[in-house]
Amino acid sequence: MQAAALIVAAGKGERAGGGVPKQFRKIGGRSLVAHAIAAFDRHPAIGPIAVVVAPGQEAALAEYPRSVLIVTGGAERQDSVANGLAALAAVGCDVVLIHDAARPFLAARVIDDLLIALERHDGAIPALPVVDTLARTGETLGETVDRAQLVRVQTPQAFRFAAIVEAHETWAGGAATDDAQMARAAGFSVITVAGDVMLEKITHEADFAAAEARLAQALVSRTGMGFDVHRLEDGRPLWLGGVQIPHHQGLAGHSDADVALHAIVDALLGAIGAGDIGSHFPPTDPQWKGADSARFITHAADLIAQAGGIIDHVDLTIICEAPKIGPHREAMRERIAALLAVDPSRISVKATTTERLGFTGRGEGIAAQAVATVRS
Ligand code: CTP
Ligand code: MG
Repeated sequence: MQAAALIVAAGKGERAGGGVPKQFRKIGGRSLVAHAIAAFDRHPAIGPIAVVVAPGQEAALAEYPRSVLIVTGGAERQDSVANGLAALAAVGCDVVLIHDAARPFLAARVIDDLLIALERHDGAIPALPVVDTLARTGETLGETVDRAQLVRVQTPQAFRFAAIVEAHETWAGGAATDDAQMARAAGFSVITVAGDVMLEKITHEADFAAAEARLAQALVSRTGMGFDVHRLEDGRPLWLGGVQIPHHQGLAGHSDADVALHAIVDALLGAIGAGDIGSHFPPTDPQWKGADSARFITHAADLIAQAGGIIDHVDLTIICEAPKIGPHREAMRERIAALLAVDPSRISVKATTTERLGFTGRGEGIAAQAVATVRS
């Protein structure tokens, strides 16, 4: 059974305000839509992932390094879903999980429950009980409504693909705030599974702070460290921190020998217990000869994203007598931040000499060490 994910991220986020549509605002250093993509991406049962964005906002997805099917949205949520369904029809799938980008924290348990429920029903949605007293409102308070008969409906909403396509094609109602009501109207059976408070939709400005706090509770902070040394040789370009620096010598090694990026890669891998740079890119493998170390670092960032992690901070120290690092510090920060898809404020670049002592002091090589803090 091929299961696809369809994330709608083409809304304007008017109730949340804030200039940028809410799905592109960040929590824990990562946009809401990137969180949602990562949740599906790391679930083994999910195949293709389509993300629906408003015209002209495709570039906002560049932050997420993995490939997703980018679809252009419509005026109403249901138009955006319909466009996504059409794109997935071309790819082919048996079931689809339709999800609001505005619900960034999606647990694997919810996906599991929905897929199991689909074995016996045309549709399945997560729902939570209502805890407050509910009442009708008018000029004065109206009658109380029995909350035991009501639920709060969340996404992702999972459907057999043919059923939800038919429901969209035959829908004659007006604006629909979700897809389950369309499936029901078309006569399909929709069951509820246990919802999740982490799935609460971000609608208003205050929801961002609440979500940030919820995320902080759910993740564990880990620190990794990395260390690397490369020899300086004549006749090679000097790459340091992802930037080429004018110098009379360059670093020798199998790849571009960017000792600073290598230390960062090891720190990142260490923070998620994923081995070291040599285990991912063996120096004996000819395909890494002369390789741009940017590839190593985006691979490490990718592994962290797949593990549901967030890069909180990287602190790099370059140890050499020459060249002077100060003039290149900001360029390195910018480059490393871009490679890791984080804000440059999360990247620190420092340098020191060893008072002419040792191999770095004699200018025989350059060393680098890095510490990375990752929440996952
Ligand atoms: N959505 C969409 N296309 C639309 C409208 C909404 O893809 N034309 C998406 C939103 O991006 C969001 C989800 O549908 O992920 C749920 O909608 P909602 O919370 O209402 O988001 P917005 O419409 O963006 O917010 P608002 O109603 O406050 O403007
Ligand atoms: Mg809306």
